[in-house]
Amino acid sequence: MEYRMLGKTGIDVSVIAMGCWALAGDEAWGPQDESDSIATVHAALDVGVNLFDTAEGYGDGRSEEVLGKALVGRRDRAIIATKVSGNHLSAEGVVLACERSLKLLRTDTIDLYQIHWPSRQIPLAETLRALQRLREQGKIRAIGVCNFGLLDLKDLVDLGGAESNQLPYSLLWRGIEHELQPRCQDVGMGILCYSPLAQGLLTGKFASPEDVPAGRARTRHFSKDRPLARHGEDGCEAETFAAIDEIRRICQRVGAPMAQAALAWLVAQDGVASVLAGARRPEQIEDNVRAAELDLPSEVIDALSAATARLKEALGANLDQYQGAATSRFR
Ligand SMILES: NC(=O)c1ccc[n+]([C@@H]2O[C@H](COP(=O)([O-])OP(=O)(O)OC[C@H]3O[C@@H](n4cnc5c(N)ncnc54)[C@H](OP(=O)(O)O)[C@@H]3O)[C@@H](O)[C@H]2O)c1
Repeated sequence: MEYRMLGKTGIDVSVIAMGCWALAGDEAWGPQDESDSIATVHAALDVGVNLFDTAEGYGDGRSEEVLGKALVGRRDRAIIATKVSGNHLSAEGVVLACERSLKLLRTDTIDLYQIHWPSRQIPLAETLRALQRLREQGKIRAIGVCNFGLLDLKDLVDLGGAESNQLPYSLLWRGIEHELQPRCQDVGMGILCYSPLAQGLLTGKFASPEDVPAGRARTRHFSKDRPLARHGEDGCEAETFAAIDEIRRICQRVGAPMAQAALAWLVAQDGVASVLAGARRPEQIEDNVRAAELDLPSEVIDALSAATARLKEALGANLDQYQGAATSRFR
């Protein structure tokens, strides 16, 4: 496993991390067995994963609770990244949310505490002051953000910056390449890639849009007519599944499993500190970490980029996976 420093923190994180959202067993992911979750965390540690990403918002604390339980006796081997929700960003709210997360995670310090979504109500300066106080008190070690677009990033940098920006990034979701990826690099913030498998689409296990469970068929890849979609757009189902077919062909040609190739492609992109691969069973994380060992030749990386170029253009610059350009939460 390769480890990279997160921003300027001095904290080295594995290039493949475990995303813990599905451990919540919520509407997006469906029921999740606790013993599977715990076994998955243990398997991740055993194969060299040290970064675990969760959030208070995942199942209203359920994902944090399960991760905390799984790390009993193993806490020193893990870097815990969690998030404060957008509705808890007042000075008081941040402190209360942090105390609850510490309790659920059964720890006395959070390694990376991230703003889950920027707030349009609470001034960023207020939230950052509260986070800085928590860091001075040793309750958190580093401050990160998620879903900060160019304008939010500028405000953040003007106020002193943060160590990482967690963004949606995968072969099927390349919007950050337009401007945000180079900007994060310029300001020294590590990129943590979320939904790197496009929520399972890049494993190749769904043959058509109809096969994708409704909780996932709500991203802007899919038509507005899918039951849980709220983006109001036509979607890009044809381009998405054409891209998946082409990725499958390339992977067959080079003898690499699709999921691993998709993750290895991300590890090779500029500015990426770690790839947050969601997993809910041990064999998934074991599979996914093999990507860290997969040294794809540049010719294959380029072919994978070419396979998804058309989809990248069709999805445009709006980075919000779930909401259309008019109501995008990115700024
Ligand atoms: N900051 C944010 O706003 C934000 C937003 C989204 C996600 N995230 C973070 O990013 C993490 C990853 O993103 P994600 O969970 O949305 O999606 P993802 O990593 O793209 O997809 C994960 C899902 O794909 C399936 N899978 C994973 N590995 C597989 C394998 N080897 N073979 C077959 N199927 C496999 C599993 O679900 P099934 O077995 O059910 O198919 C798994 O839960 C999250 O857990 C979370 O920590 C952050």
